[in-house]
Amino acid sequence: MTQFPPPSDRRPAGLATTPFPLPPNATIGLVGGGQLGRMSALAAARLGYRCHILTREPGSPATQVAAGVTISDYSDPASLRAFAAAVDVISFEFENVSAEGLDLLASLKPVRPSPDVLRISQDRVAEKQFLNAAGVATAPWAAVDSLDALYDAARRIGLPAVLKTTRYGYDGKGQARLHAEADLAPAFAALAPKPLIFEGFVDFACEISAVVARGADGATSCFDPMENRHRDGILDLTLAPARVPEATAAAAREIAIRIADALNLIGVLAVEMFVDRTGRLLANEIAPRPHNSGHWTIDACPASQFELHIRAVAGLPLLPATRHADAVMRNLVGPDGLALWPAVVAAPGLIPHLYGKADARPGRKMGHVTRLFPRGSLPGEFGIAAALGPAAPAPDAQDPGERG
Ligand SMILES: Nc1ncnc2c1ncn2[C@@H]1O[C@H](COP(=O)(O)OP(=O)(O)OP(=O)(O)O)[C@@H](O)[C@H]1O
Ligand SMILES: [Mg+2]
Repeated sequence: MTQFPPPSDRRPAGLATTPFPLPPNATIGLVGGGQLGRMSALAAARLGYRCHILTREPGSPATQVAAGVTISDYSDPASLRAFAAAVDVISFEFENVSAEGLDLLASLKPVRPSPDVLRISQDRVAEKQFLNAAGVATAPWAAVDSLDALYDAARRIGLPAVLKTTRYGYDGKGQARLHAEADLAPAFAALAPKPLIFEGFVDFACEISAVVARGADGATSCFDPMENRHRDGILDLTLAPARVPEATAAAAREIAIRIADALNLIGVLAVEMFVDRTGRLLANEIAPRPHNSGHWTIDACPASQFELHIRAVAGLPLLPATRHADAVMRNLVGPDGLALWPAVVAAPGLIPHLYGKADARPGRKMGHVTRLFPRGSLPGEFGIAAALGPAAPAPDAQDPGERG
C-alpha cells in the first residue's frame, strides 16, 4: 500500500463521529479510481470538499483530481483501515468490494450508500429478486448453477435468451446470447464464475435509464429518463430526454424512486430499463452510483448527477433534478474514440470531456462529448448526427446484436 498525503502530514483526523451535513474541507473517501470517481471528485471540489481515492491503479482518472490517494488492493484490511482513517465519509464508484471489506469500512466510517445496497447490486440474482419483491417488473429469469438447470430454464422461459454471470459483468462482458438449444452447453462452459442467470430476451423498442438521488431524510430528486443506444455491448449514445410518451417517462421516474426508497438509498441510483414493444417497462439492472447515461447532466443541469450524489453523501440539501437544456452525449471509446479528440476539441458547440487514461485500449471509455439543445428541441435522427459533427456515430451505430 502507498498513501498520499502520508498520515503524519494530514490535517488532524476528523471527529470521532462524522457531522452531517459535512462541513467545508471535509474529506469524502471514494472507492474506485475511474472516470465516475473523477467527475464525482470534481463536483465535490466545487462544493468545497476534498476527495481521497482508494484504487489499485496509480495515476488512474480520479487520482489526478483528488486531494489524497491510497493505492492498494480493495481487500487488504490494513489498507482499508488507512483509507478509512483519512476520510470522514465513504462512497463508491466501483461496486465490487468484498463483503468483508464493506463490513470493515462500515465499522470505521459512515458508508453511503450502505453495504446492503451494494450487496444487492453486485449480484444479478439478488438484484432481480429485490426488484420483483419491490413490485418492479423484469424479464423472466432463473438462477442457473448447473447445465440441467440451464436446460430447465430454457424449457420454462424459452429462447432466445441471454445468459449472464451474476457478478463482475460490465459493458456487456460476461454474457452470451442463446438462440438455439445447441448454444446452451457451450455458453454454460464459457461463462465464469458460476452461478449464472438466465434471462428471457426482451424484444425492446428502446432502452432507457433514470437517475434518482435520495438523501438521508428520504427526499428524492429524479432526472427525466434518457434513451440509451449501445454498440458492441458498450453505451454509445444517450439522448436526454428519452423520446417516449410522458406516461412512460413518469412511470420510469416512479420506478426509480420506488427502488431508491426500498433500498433506503443515500446517494444516486441509476435504473436501466427496457421499453418493450407494448410500451411496458422492464427493469434490467440498477447501479447505486452515478451512471454513464447521466454524464450529460454535467452540462445540461444546474446540479449534475455527480453533484447530487455528493450532496446526498455529504448530507447537503438535494436540489431538483431539472435541466436547462436537452442533450445528446456520445462516448469516446478506445483508440477510435480518442482519434476523434483533436476534431472534437476544435468543434464549436461540442462540450468535450477526457478522463486522463494513459492507454486507449479497444473498448475502453476514454472520454465523452455532449451537445446541448434548447429544451424541447432535441433534433430527429439526422439532426443528431449533424449536431455531433466530427463525433457523429457511423451510420451503422445501432449494434444489431443489441436488438437480437
Ligand atoms: N434480457 C435481455 N434482453 C435483451 N437485451 C438484453 C438483455 N440483457 C441485456 N441486454 C442487452 O445487453 C446490454 C448489456 O446488458 P447489462 O446491462 O445487463 O450488462 P452490463 O454488462 O452490466 O452492461 P453495462 O455495464 O453497460 O450496464 C443491455 O443494455 C441490453 O442492450
Ligand atoms: Mg447495463
